[in-house]
Amino acid sequence: MHELLAQLKRTALAELESATSPGELEGIRVKTLGKKGALTQILRGLGQVPEGERPAIGALANELKSAFEVVFARCEKELKKHELAARLDREWVDITLPGRPRPSGGVHPVTRAFGEIIAIFTAMGFPPASGPEVESDWHNFEALNIPPDHPAREMHDTFYLPPGPGGGKRLLRTHTSPVQIRVMLERKPPLRVIAPGRVFRCDSDLTHTPMFHQVEGFMVDEGVNFGQLKGVLEVFLTRFFERSLPVRFRPSFFPFTEPSAEVDMGCLFCEGSGCRICKRTGWLEVLGCGMIHPAVLANVGIDRERYSGFAFGMGADRLAMLKYGITDLRAMFDNDVRFLGRQA
Ligand code: FA5
Ligand code: MG
Repeated sequence: MHELLAQLKRTALAELESATSPGELEGIRVKTLGKKGALTQILRGLGQVPEGERPAIGALANELKSAFEVVFARCEKELKKHELAARLDREWVDITLPGRPRPSGGVHPVTRAFGEIIAIFTAMGFPPASGPEVESDWHNFEALNIPPDHPAREMHDTFYLPPGPGGGKRLLRTHTSPVQIRVMLERKPPLRVIAPGRVFRCDSDLTHTPMFHQVEGFMVDEGVNFGQLKGVLEVFLTRFFERSLPVRFRPSFFPFTEPSAEVDMGCLFCEGSGCRICKRTGWLEVLGCGMIHPAVLANVGIDRERYSGFAFGMGADRLAMLKYGITDLRAMFDNDVRFLGRQA
């Protein structure tokens, strides 16, 4: 029995020394000193040992236990220290690095406005159509009753392009009105269409940018009148701004409509008292409109005796500016993520 105990002590202590984790140490402890452990097994045989020798065996067993505990405690301490060092190595965080905020952004206000405008008009029976941004002089001007020497061309600050392969005059479209021409050439009345898109003019200040967005809309049928135009626009503006706002129809001039009007909205920034955004007038022009000129209908082969139509072209950037409270139109195209983040 002496020999058994001495051997158990040697193997148990050697095992402790070579353990690689606190969990392994605990396993060795249970295996050696636990209820069903090796020491208990050996001491079970104590009955067979002559009585005189029992105290010596008891002392030996106690010595084994205390030696075991000492080595156990030392190994456990070392292994825990290693484990901690390894964890610190694995999980360290450099707190001097700058924070990483979650990327934030939003739908661009013009894209949002386009979506809302399209939804409102589609519900009113005006589905969207589109046309090219590089346009012919004929579609952009001539077919719209603006001949080459017409003074109205000056209002458009056109970006002209080198002639196309066929030699025709080309330009960046200055408005979405050429889409009227394209749709009327392709389809027969009755027509109800809107055309959202990008347009270009050599112009830049608080309320003008060289590239901006318009939504064209028009309707051609028998007996279309100005009252319907006014009604459609008033319903649209009330739905778009989700409330009734001051709106005024101001007589104006476009070569492709007769009569023509421009629509102003009460300036939402100063509530009409006059600020630099509305140039102290209390009003912001948001769209042009009118009854399609009979000469335009004739240009696209529509019977001007039988049909009449109305058309309008609105500035989507202006509408977005008013609706979302953006004070400088140019911010829309600076691509500053802080601006886009605020629009979320
Ligand atoms: C036109 O472009 C006409 N084609 C509108 C039209 C269509 C009239 C159909 C009649 C029938 P105007 O140049 O006024 O009109 O522009 C229409 C709207 O676009 C303006 O009311 C304004 O809201 C917006 N707009 C004009 N220029 C700019 C610009 N540089 N930057 C931002 N918005 C602009
Ligand atoms: Mg105008």
